[in-house]
Amino acid sequence: ALKDNTVIVVFGASGDLAKKKTYPALFGLYRNGYLPKDVHIVGYARTKMDTEEYYKRITSYIKIPDNDPAVAAKLDEFKKLSSYVSGGYEDAESFINLRKHFEDIEKKYVTRDVNRIFYLALPPSVFIPVAKNIKENCYSTRGINRIIVEKPFGKDLESCRSLLGALKQSWKEDETYRIDHYLGKEMVKNLLVLRFGNVAMNAAWDRNSIDNVQITFKEPFGTEGRGGYFDEFGIIRDILQNHLLQVLSILTMERPVSFSAEDIRDEKVCSAVNVVKVLRAIPPIKFEDTLLGQYVAANGKPGYLDDDSVPKNSVCPTFAATVLWIKNPRWDGVPFILKAGKALNEAKVEIRVQFKDVTDGIFADISRNELVVRIQPSEAVYLKLNTKTPGYSFRAIPTEMDLTYHRRFTDSTIPEAYEVLILDALKGDHSNFVRDDELDVAWKIFTPILHWIDGETAPRPMPYPYGSRGPFELDAFIRRYGYKRSTSE
Ligand code: BG6
Repeated sequence: ALKDNTVIVVFGASGDLAKKKTYPALFGLYRNGYLPKDVHIVGYARTKMDTEEYYKRITSYIKIPDNDPAVAAKLDEFKKLSSYVSGGYEDAESFINLRKHFEDIEKKYVTRDVNRIFYLALPPSVFIPVAKNIKENCYSTRGINRIIVEKPFGKDLESCRSLLGALKQSWKEDETYRIDHYLGKEMVKNLLVLRFGNVAMNAAWDRNSIDNVQITFKEPFGTEGRGGYFDEFGIIRDILQNHLLQVLSILTMERPVSFSAEDIRDEKVCSAVNVVKVLRAIPPIKFEDTLLGQYVAANGKPGYLDDDSVPKNSVCPTFAATVLWIKNPRWDGVPFILKAGKALNEAKVEIRVQFKDVTDGIFADISRNELVVRIQPSEAVYLKLNTKTPGYSFRAIPTEMDLTYHRRFTDSTIPEAYEVLILDALKGDHSNFVRDDELDVAWKIFTPILHWIDGETAPRPMPYPYGSRGPFELDAFIRRYGYKRSTSE
């Protein structure tokens, strides 16, 4: 349940993440009445600014649809619940100063618990000192304390282990909430219901029926403004190793014993049938199963290397396609193709499950069935089925059974992933947060290829024009793993 009297602190309040995701999500929750009673929000960052300037920033972070006066009034209320403290990340004094700020706010709760939620929207270089400083100087002794942390959780297996180890010195696992915001997306959550709430789906969910699976992330913009961060990490660490791998684990895990947080998280790492973890059943990715790309200037847009914060000879991939194989009886032999790219032709995240060919016999040239789950934009699930061409012909044509959310659920609004996750953290529900052992397995799968890419012998990524579908070689790459276009395409 939600705890009243809660102070939420956003560290990194002037950064990109706070601006794009954290503040809009906090405001969304507030506006819909989901924040606890007597909540207070503290922004914390190095930048010095007074309250007026801080309010201006909050206003600039939040979009008011059609300048709706009711929303604007809510925003004014929200600002009144907010305050700002500037300080360093490494020195104790700054945190003692922050504690005093808490004590001032919390005076009004004299006889009651006070709960503190610490949200770290920070670069990894300061995670550890901040976590330690909070524990030593800002930990509430009169209520619950929770720390929400964001990726990147290290750069490889070793750095992740040392980061987690250091965090554990100050914070217990049940106080720690590691966000992967893809776990908060409606269609990712829906996978559990689609798979385990439908006998028809479940019956065909294995290597006997499925030929190949693609999980695709496409963004139509480059790294503009984030080049410095991005160049150190690259697209594999930014998207594949976390967001797409999480989607894959939910798509392929065995049925959890229940919907309790620990059961879901257990099942992602341990398949009940084989007692092997589904992620553990994935061997490290092979170089020959990987295609890398980097965007170049085109369509009036700059190339990756034109960004001033990127080194001129950078070989950092902004596009990657790679194949994961799950070595268990359900999935052995099925390629899971993960693809992600910046500066592509469209914004789209989807899962495409392609079923096997109909066995030879009565139809020539018939398309495969496909189940597509569109995560964003315009959430949808559709199944490509062959149907007899209406009329005198007996020819089969591919058609769709289409569940597009905005048509089917006209009265429902889908909450933003960050709203869902922050609310879960406020309620103390860990179901959609990443557990430490999951991270360990995830890094084991990706570390060898990442070291190869970071090393001397890595090839240059294939160039692709800004605004294109990705490297030219992509179609041939996907075909190599069995994907067939439907006959109508
Ligand atoms: C973040 C990545 O984790 O996810 C960004 O660091 C990416 O590079 C973002 O743009 C995508 O999130 P969404 O919710 O817009 O798909």
